[in-house]
Amino acid sequence: MIELIREIEQARRRLAAHRREGRSIGLVPTMGALHDGHLSLVHRARAANDVVAVWIFVNPTQYDDPADLERYPRTLEADLEKIEAAEADLVIHPEPAEVYHDDYRFKVVETAFSRELEGAHRAGHFDGVLTVVLKLLNIAGAHRAYFGEKDWQQLQLVRDMTAAFFHPTEIVACPTVREPDGLAMSSRNVHLSPEERLIAPEFHRILSAGGSPDRMTVELENAGFEVDYVEQRGDRVVGAVRLGKVRLIDNVPI
Ligand code: PAJ
Repeated sequence: MIELIREIEQARRRLAAHRREGRSIGLVPTMGALHDGHLSLVHRARAANDVVAVWIFVNPTQYDDPADLERYPRTLEADLEKIEAAEADLVIHPEPAEVYHDDYRFKVVETAFSRELEGAHRAGHFDGVLTVVLKLLNIAGAHRAYFGEKDWQQLQLVRDMTAAFFHPTEIVACPTVREPDGLAMSSRNVHLSPEERLIAPEFHRILSAGGSPDRMTVELENAGFEVDYVEQRGDRVVGAVRLGKVRLIDNVPI
């Protein structure tokens, strides 16, 4: 049986005991509602570590829209079954009141890149992400933590934060897992109507087809998306679009 730990002190003690025994620890941070994208991170962690811990916590501080937080699917029982099938060892599922016992008086603020792209459209989002990630990295003391390239800006910021604070956990990037039609797997995809679901894969297709970001924006709008941004950053095109009530993000190498 997979071990479910709800108290932070207990999670710390359990993982510290594993470290003392000389076992390597791989950590997979998630907000639950797990799909094959998340599980690919668990498989990666399983292949490289003695102990695999999955963090499930719908982090309130990274939501600027309370309705979005409310709507986030919570599916703990199904998640535990999937994690067990992926052969992880334990799940850390803490209470918001314990994670934020300081009432979020202390936060990690990045002052440049976090204000761009996603950060420009979601006020305070990356403060919430970086703060909770620093907390969970400190709780777990993992050798490695696994993050998806799907959330490309998040991955860069987490890497930069661990470097900035000399945090010893290695951040491992994992490729984006897609549906057969190219749509990046996301917990939000369940909110797409059947009609929207047919249009959604055009997002990845248009980003992958090449051309200028301006041209892609026009093509996306013609396909029925509202475009928050499409930009080239380094060797990537990154974008965010809205289809009805659902917001999708994606990125592809150039
Ligand atoms: P969440 O959206 O649950 O995603 C957890 C991890 O799964 C992230 O690293 C994300 O990039 C990765 N992931 C999601 N969809 C993926 C896909 N289709 N292919 C590969 N990886 C995918 O990201 C978060 O949670 C939170 O911000 C968190 C880091 C847990 C902090 O609260």
